[in-house]
Amino acid sequence: MEPTSQQENAHSSVLTLHVNGTPHTLMLDHRTTLLDALRERLRLTGAKKGCDHGQCGACTVIVDGRRVNSCLLLAAAHDGARVTTVEGLAEGETLHPVQEAFVGRDALQCGYCTPGQICSAVGMLAEAAEGHPSHVTSPHHSPGAPADLTPDEIRERMSGNICRCGAYPNIVDAIGEVAP
Ligand code: FES
Ligand code: FES
Repeated sequence: MEPTSQQENAHSSVLTLHVNGTPHTLMLDHRTTLLDALRERLRLTGAKKGCDHGQCGACTVIVDGRRVNSCLLLAAAHDGARVTTVEGLAEGETLHPVQEAFVGRDALQCGYCTPGQICSAVGMLAEAAEGHPSHVTSPHHSPGAPADLTPDEIRERMSGNICRCGAYPNIVDAIGEVAP
């Protein structure tokens, strides 16, 4: 049975998260992070808890179109949010182009960081297409024009995603293959 607002108490709230296109109404302790809600309540274990401190990127998912570190977000602050996890990127049996590129370029070793890398890359490609600059973007870049995703740009824009296996060269190659 779904929780109701009558069941709320001082330490919890009822909220709805739209995850990979499906609404989920949950009663959650106010201290529950989005990462824990996804992993522990919805059993979506693609996003990983690496550091739980916003330092590794393993928990990256996409919330309302922006990549985020889900370990840093309180689920209670995202009632109604639209969340995409790595489990929601493929269309049936057809992988997302970024997933295809990671497979094709062998852009992983143990795979622990990979869901976060892929979600981050999907979000990053959208940011670049919208013209968001990075620290290495040329000062002559026209505001709002799509960013030219050189390897330096990809490395900078993906710098929040750590890979303990050091698969970085192939990760950059894979993202470069998908970049326009
Ligand atoms: Fe969230 Fe490391 S687990 S950034
Ligand atoms: Fe092992 Fe990145 S592939 S941590």
